[in-house]
Amino acid sequence: MHNRLLPTLLIITLLAMVAGFTYVHWSKSGPGAGLYSRDWLPDPVQGYWDPNNFYRSSDSVQGVFEGKQCVQCHEEITPGIVADWRASRHAQGDEKVFCNDCHGGDHQRLHLPTPEVCGSCHNKQQNESEDEARYGFPSHILAMERAVDAPHFADKPKAEVQSCVQCHSVATKCDSCHTRHRFDAAESRRPEACITCHSGPPHPDDTTYFASAHGQIYLAEGKDWDWSKPLTKGNYKAPTCAYCHMDAGRHQVAHKSMWKFGLREINPHTSNNQILRRRWIELCSDCHAEKEAAQWLGELDRERKQAWSMLYMAEAVLKNLRSDQLLQPSAAERPPYPMGSLWPMERIGFYEGQASAFYNVSGIERDYFEMWYFDNLGAYKSAAHGDSAGVKEGHQKMATSLEHIQTKAHKLRQRAATEQETEITPAAPSIWNSGAYTDYNREHN
Ligand code: HEC
Ligand code: HEC
Ligand code: HEC
Ligand code: HEC
Ligand code: HEC
Ligand code: HEC
Ligand code: HEC
Ligand code: HEC
Repeated sequence: MHNRLLPTLLIITLLAMVAGFTYVHWSKSGPGAGLYSRDWLPDPVQGYWDPNNFYRSSDSVQGVFEGKQCVQCHEEITPGIVADWRASRHAQGDEKVFCNDCHGGDHQRLHLPTPEVCGSCHNKQQNESEDEARYGFPSHILAMERAVDAPHFADKPKAEVQSCVQCHSVATKCDSCHTRHRFDAAESRRPEACITCHSGPPHPDDTTYFASAHGQIYLAEGKDWDWSKPLTKGNYKAPTCAYCHMDAGRHQVAHKSMWKFGLREINPHTSNNQILRRRWIELCSDCHAEKEAAQWLGELDRERKQAWSMLYMAEAVLKNLRSDQLLQPSAAERPPYPMGSLWPMERIGFYEGQASAFYNVSGIERDYFEMWYFDNLGAYKSAAHGDSAGVKEGHQKMATSLEHIQTKAHKLRQRAATEQETEITPAAPSIWNSGAYTDYNREHN
């Protein structure tokens, strides 16, 4: 009996694995990209954000040109681009990097440079970026797949998701921080290079940095600093985003971070996280005493513990409502959102896929989502970046949200009790069954 069961189990496991791989392969082979590639069609502009997958050359100009010819004609057509290129390092000296070095010479087969194209001359930076994948999410190199693999990317109205790829294209092209066609290292050292993307309520890196002692010094004195210097010890009085996250010009942002965007609780004391923490302390000690830096970062851990104790209380309230079937409408009564969910369920907490609670949820689930995604992440970034007023504000908001959730839960329970007495069950509101985020949208993606 025993020796038959084992091979059977093995075969079933193998078959399941093959089926899994085949399914993933199939789901990635649609006109879009990523896990939901069959559920969305790329707009033409997608070619500029993700050139490797989607760029198609325009074919209105015929001919194969040399660098000087490109410059000559484009001087008329796109003078701004040519002026920026002329001012860049690429146009200095005898060995100029011409338009065709990045775009190709055949005008009907142009390409937009992927990191590989830049990497053919800037090996170090490209290798470092690629190597970042080993730290897992979040990271710059995995950002594009993270966005397009999010169910709400495929399910939301098209107009709203163009912005996702604009920011998440940090993975698929090299001009996010040193913009084309200046490609200026000095530009990328300044916080402005990062905050085009690192802003807004789930990641208020801009406001929290500018409110910190570091940001205040930058605002007061930064205009007089010599930004041509690399980001190494002794060159800057106060750190900028890149000084801290890309120290010594390393083209990685994930090699020190442990808190994973603040979305879930982690244990800062594992041996691996202690290594990451050491890296931070070493960096801070460019300018501070090690001991003091370690204590400041310890404050961040305490802030996180406090935040998570509140978040878990709110999660428990929701989970109890769920097990008493008091979340209305229930997941089974909602349209299948996010896409592809085989087992409709109310997802509470990071590990159940809380991020899908953006839409198509009951009021109280959305309340928790806001507490988790906005109040909590705001508090986290304030603590990480040294904005003490922001920490206080974030925690106050979380406390208010928690109280609100508890009150609402109480009301739901009271209502359920009354309904049981009178035997009236209200119908699920019809808003969930059609609307901007449901049928209409699915037909138009
Ligand atoms: C005779 C004039 C002329 C020459 C020479 C020329 N271009 Fe262009 N280029 C244009 C015009 C016109 C457009 C706009 C085409 C369009 O919108 O369909 C353009 C567009 C482009 C684009 C944008 C493509 C897109 O999809 O947005 C790139 C990149 C480009 N050129 C690069 C080059 C390079 C590299 C060379 C040299 C190998 C070059 N051009 C030579 C006229 C020229
Ligand atoms: C160092 C590489 C590099 C060089 C050299 C270069 N480009 Fe580009 N170019 C880029 C990158 C990167 C983009 C953005 C691609 C994207 O959006 O995916 C771009 C985009 C463009 C675009 C379309 C985007 C827009 O802003 O409208 C045009 C047109 C263009 N380049 C023309 C030129 C011309 C003309 C030259 C020479 C004067 C030139 N490029 C030299 C890297 C380069
Ligand atoms: C054909 C080779 C070549 C290609 C392709 C190329 N570069 Fe460069 N790049 C150079 C050279 C040469 C320099 C000047 C010397 C140096 O700093 O290495 C330079 C300098 C730079 C600098 C430093 C500028 C400064 O202010 O000091 C940046 C940033 C840069 N390149 C970015 C890019 C990006 C992004 C791409 C792709 C879109 C790219 N390069 C493609 C050759 C190239
Ligand atoms: C303004 C720029 C911006 C826009 C727009 C944007 N994101 Fe992001 N996104 C970010 C940044 C920055 C982070 C990382 C924040 C951090 O680590 O603190 C992030 C994080 C994420 C994460 C979590 C990362 C992880 O690996 O756990 C996901 C998933 C995500 N975004 C998906 C999307 C989707 C889908 C959209 C469009 C609906 C979108 N983003 C729109 C900038 C943006
Ligand atoms: C074009 C948009 C864009 C720009 C510019 C940008 N980032 Fe990001 N960054 C992102 C996105 C998107 C993510 C989230 C990636 C994901 O989904 O996993 C991210 C993630 C991060 C993370 C989180 C890494 C981790 O392990 O948690 C750090 C740190 C970071 N960026 C720092 C910077 C710094 C510093 C700069 C400027 C020098 C910068 N970013 C510029 C879009 C951008
Ligand atoms: C998240 C922002 C960001 C992105 C994305 C980015 N860079 Fe950079 N890059 C920087 C910063 C910051 C510096 C300045 C580093 C320093 O001062 O030591 C820099 C400097 C450079 C330099 C000049 C190095 C030197 O020593 O002068 C090159 C070349 C370069 N980057 C190439 C690339 C290439 C190639 C890519 C794409 C694979 C890329 N960068 C993507 C932020 C970025
Ligand atoms: C004094 C150094 C310092 C400066 C300056 C700084 N940060 Fe941070 N940042 C941190 C620390 C420390 C953390 C917490 C990382 C951890 O341990 O997980 C953090 C966290 C982050 C994260 C989330 C990483 C994660 O995985 O949770 C992002 C994204 C980020 N910072 C972006 C920025 C941006 C953008 C700027 C500039 C506006 C900036 N930072 C300025 C030190 C700094
Ligand atoms: C490039 C230099 C530099 C680096 C790197 C740096 N700081 Fe600072 N920091 C300063 C300066 C300058 C001040 C303002 C003067 C002061 O209060 O000591 C400051 C102030 C602070 C303050 C406020 C101190 C107070 O007494 O109010 C905190 C907290 C802080 N830094 C934490 C950190 C942490 C944590 C790191 C590493 C993640 C770090 N700093 C990295 C230069 C730096």
